[in-house]
Parts: sequence; C-alpha cells; structure tokens
Amino acid sequence: MTKSPLKLAIIGGGSSYTPELVEGVLKRLDRIPVKEMHFVDVEAGKEKLAVIEALTRRMVDKAGADMTVTASMDRRAAIQGADFVMTQFRVGGLQARANDERIPLKYDVIGQETTGPGGFAKALRTIPVILDICQDIEELAPNAWMLNFTNPAGLVTEAVQKYTRVKTIGLCNVPVSMKMMIAEMMDCQPQELTLECAGLNHLVWAHRAWLRGQDITADVLKKVGDGASYSMKNISEEPWDPDFLNALGAIPCPYHRYFYQTEAMLAEEKATALKEGTRAEQVMKTERELFELYSSEALAEKPEQLEKRGGAYYSDASLNLVDAIYNDQKSLHVVNVRNDGTIPSLPDDVVIECSAVVGSWGARPIVVGRLGPQVLGLISQVKAYEQLTVEAAVHGDYDKGLMALASNPLVPDIDKAKLILDEILKTNHDYLPQFRH
Ligand code: G6P
Repeated sequence: MTKSPLKLAIIGGGSSYTPELVEGVLKRLDRIPVKEMHFVDVEAGKEKLAVIEALTRRMVDKAGADMTVTASMDRRAAIQGADFVMTQFRVGGLQARANDERIPLKYDVIGQETTGPGGFAKALRTIPVILDICQDIEELAPNAWMLNFTNPAGLVTEAVQKYTRVKTIGLCNVPVSMKMMIAEMMDCQPQELTLECAGLNHLVWAHRAWLRGQDITADVLKKVGDGASYSMKNISEEPWDPDFLNALGAIPCPYHRYFYQTEAMLAEEKATALKEGTRAEQVMKTERELFELYSSEALAEKPEQLEKRGGAYYSDASLNLVDAIYNDQKSLHVVNVRNDGTIPSLPDDVVIECSAVVGSWGARPIVVGRLGPQVLGLISQVKAYEQLTVEAAVHGDYDKGLMALASNPLVPDIDKAKLILDEILKTNHDYLPQFRH
C-alpha cells in the first residue's frame, strides 16, 4: 500500500457507536492520516446518519483536522477509492435483533444477538447483504481492506472469505475487553500483558496469559473463580465455578457462559426479558438517549453514556488494526481470519478467531499449540453449525438451516430447532430474499 492519506468508508455509519470510531480516528491522525470519512446507511437510517454526520463535523472541527466528512445513501460512492471499508451495519435494525432474542426464548432456548438461534437469524439476514457489498468492493476498490465488525462477526467473515476475493479481516471487541479486564484484576497495564488466544468469535479462549514474561494463566483463573469482575455490559455476570475453571486450564471469554452455564443464563434472560425487556429492547432506549445527546449542537465529543453499550474498545480494536496494516507494524492482534492449519482439526477455509501478526500484507495467525479435547469439542461443534449457517444463508437452503440449528449446542432438540427455524423464516420474511424460491 502506498503511504498516501486514507479514505475510510463506514457502512452502517448511522450506528450509535460511530462517535467512538471518529474519536479513535482523530486520536491517531499522526499515525493514520485520514483525509476522508464517508459514512453510508440505508433509507431507514437516514435521520440517524444526519445526526452522526453533524456530530462528526463538530468533532473534526474541534480537533482542527483537515478531513472531508461525507454521509450518504450512496454505497458505491463511499466504496469508490476507499482504502479501508469498515462494516458495522445491522440489517433490520434493533427490532430485528429483539425478534432474534425473543423467538428462541419462547422455546426455552437462549435468545442472544450473536450466539445460538439469534445469531443464526442475524447471519441469514446479513450474509446476502455483505456479499453484495463485496461485489462493489471487488469492482470499485479491489485493493481495499474490509474490516468486518458486523455480527455474527466470525460467521460473516467466513462467508466473505469463501465467496469473494475481498481482502478481509473480522474483528471483535471481546479479546481486547478480556485483556482490559485481566489487566484490571492483575493490577497492571494492558500493554504489559500478552494473551495467546484461539477459538471462534464469541467463543475464544486465552490459552495462556503472560505478564512481563511470567505465565499468569492459573492466577487469572483463580481470580475469576474467586469472583473478580469478568463480564461485558451486555452479558450477565453469572459467577464461575472455580473447580471448573481450574480443570479447564484456559481463560474463557464472557460469552462462554451461554455454553457452560446455559440454564442459569436462560433463567436470567427470561427474568430480565419480563422485567426490563430483552437486551435489544434495553438498547433501543439507550439509543434514543444517545441520539438526543448527539443532536445537541453543544456536543463535540463522544459522550460518556456510550459506555452503557457492550461494544467498548471497538474503535481501538479496528483502528489499531488500520495502524498495523498502514504502518506495516507486524504487531499482535486478535482477529478473525482463515484457519489455514492453525487449528489442525478444522478445515483450512473456515474462519477462526486467534492471535495473529498483522502487517501491510494482512494477518497471519499464530499457532498457540495443540488444543485439548476439552475445548476442541465445543469449537468443532460450533464450527459445524457456522459452516452450515453460511451455506443456508448464501443459498437459501432450508435443510442446511435446519441442520445448522440442530448442530448448535444451545438448541437441545430437533423439534425445537424446526419450530424456531420456521418462526425465524416467517418473522424475517422481508429480509430473506434468498429463501423466497
Ligand atoms: C459485545 C460484543 C459485540 C456486540 C456488543 C453488543 O461487545 O462483542 O459483538 O455487538 O456486545 O452490545 P449492546 O450494547 O448492543 O448489547
């Protein structure tokens, strides 16, 4: 890549998270000279996009940055000549997410944005759209890097890797959040820590944690087992069993609670849905408050209230990656990339989440050593679900969809799998053209 100033295209620019991204860009201008940010959204997100555009202009002016800010519905214009395309969109908005959370709950199954049947439904809606975006990238910005934040991030990135030629890296804020939480409990700076991560998106383990050359994995597991705070804003902090953690020997991510403590998490979800609404329903309220704040002419920075959302550090994760690629840093990041032998029991062409070295050529995964059956069992089963989901989403294949849900560890039997699938297809009818044949 030539070291010329950069154009960023942000698809889903009307997201309430965007001010964090803008703050991240403005903080790093000495390392990443961005000359243009083009935010894109769809008709339904037009008003939010206008609010984000105005706030971004105020933030850019305050920083005294020389940068063009554009916001439009014209995705092709945004992608044309972009160096990085950042995808952070939500097909169907928060209402579709609320449906994803509520449908499984009716059948006593975890109802979650990215994990279990909720993530499956989101993947069905999202994959056709991302493949469409990729066609534009192949045509208009073939050298661009696509950094995908769109959930379910691993699954969506896998579809892009399998079905397009776009250079892509999938990203998530969970690994960086794990690092921040571990730094807090070990009373050290995050940069003093190294985590050796491998697994899948929202199913990643730190197999070893190092602090200044010392293996601290067992200490971290002990602290988490003893009740140290270890969760994200969107996940209930169910306590961990210390004996289980000790036996596991690897540090799970907060999302593992859905798999390891399914009953407790389900009970909590059901109780919360009754009292305060599902997470999406709570987030709708937070979003309204955020957009009210964003609309104020007096605001020219990211407001603190954004911290109520689960996506903390998402801007750091993505802009540190831009930095690593643009400045050919060859630095360590946790990303979603093609497996290519990193976890030998999985196919080469599936996407895994793991520690990787990132430079101008992209991300090369680091092998963290042979994984034991205690983690490989879950990884393999969830990966089988993910592979089937990609095929179902791309081809509108009902049978693959049914097998995907039947293979998901959070769906306890095939009768439920079928009922949930049928309800997902019916509720999402308008967003699933691939199934209308
Ligand atoms: C976590 C996940 C993200 C997800 C977010 C949801 O941070 O890693 O993938 O998008 O939570 O947060 P929310 O505030 O929307 O529930």
